[in-house]
Amino acid sequence: MRGINRNFNFKFCFFLKDLFVGTFFTINFLLILLIIQIYYNRKILQKVYHKNEDFRTILGNTINNVFLKECSVMSFYEEISKYYDFIFPIGKEKINFIKKVAGEKPKDLLDVACGTGGYSLELSKQGYNVTAVDLDYKMVEELRNKSLNNNLDINILQGNMLELNQKLNSKYDLVFCIGNSLVHLNEEKEIEKFFKEIKSLLKKGGSLVIQIINYDRVLMHNVNFLPTIENKDVGIKFKRIYNYDKNTNKVLFKTILQVNGKEIENEIALYPILSKDIIKLLRSSGFESIQLFGDFKGNKFEPHNSYPLVVVAY
Ligand SMILES: C[S@@+](CC[C@H](N)C(=O)[O-])C[C@H]1O[C@@H](n2cnc3c(N)ncnc32)[C@H](O)[C@@H]1O
Repeated sequence: MRGINRNFNFKFCFFLKDLFVGTFFTINFLLILLIIQIYYNRKILQKVYHKNEDFRTILGNTINNVFLKECSVMSFYEEISKYYDFIFPIGKEKINFIKKVAGEKPKDLLDVACGTGGYSLELSKQGYNVTAVDLDYKMVEELRNKSLNNNLDINILQGNMLELNQKLNSKYDLVFCIGNSLVHLNEEKEIEKFFKEIKSLLKKGGSLVIQIINYDRVLMHNVNFLPTIENKDVGIKFKRIYNYDKNTNKVLFKTILQVNGKEIENEIALYPILSKDIIKLLRSSGFESIQLFGDFKGNKFEPHNSYPLVVVAY
């Protein structure tokens, strides 16, 4: 009897040991599966957010501002990318202004925050060597298609204007950042970083052209909307509402796109930098000559009245 009991105890102990080892291995196995799944989810999300290099903190509770900001910039422009060229067709005056500052061809140009790349496309057609960068995948794709269809050789990159040095290893005769793109950066520190990167990417004697909405006028006169854009040929209306928030020093830019009988609403926060602060940051970034214009015809900049602010810096 005792022998049977001992035998039973042994068997029971082995059973417990097997159970313990089995559970241990199963838990480990499940943990490994979980880690692999998290890893792949992370990869997929990284792809969705266009290989965003600021994507470091999706795990845990530290999703940072840059990431959130970039996601919101992307969804804003993703939504309107296919209508963008109908809303903002390229302007001849802008092309002529850029060509005049760039000088005789051949010249290497860099279009920062190129959007759907209308300006890159036109300048490339006219014989300039063009590199174009934008954060938004869809905007960049639009340019890629147009470039292919036109048999052009534009160097097109998706990336953040704050990380240009990591993406580019050439130098340029002229860098332009137009269409109010600069104010998508969050604060002065970022704008200064951007200017410093550009300075280091310019050839000796190279220049930078910036165009933004004149926020001196916007803040002085409490401007709360920009003129509605209408393209009757394709049946598009684009309403633009500005709402300045003193506490955050941001302009909430709300847009309503009316197309095909539907309304697409969007909102993005812009940093309303003043002309004096642009000058200050350009100086601290190493630009020595800075000229301000009130438009692309080369008219004088008037802080109270000019609608855009155009800056040329060397
Ligand atoms: C109003 S659009 C201007 C596009 C074009 N430059 C033009 O004049 O038509 C602003 C563009 O800035 C891009 N953008 C915003 N933040 C950016 C960033 N941090 N780096 C690169 N591009 C950015 C957006 O994706 C968008 O295409």
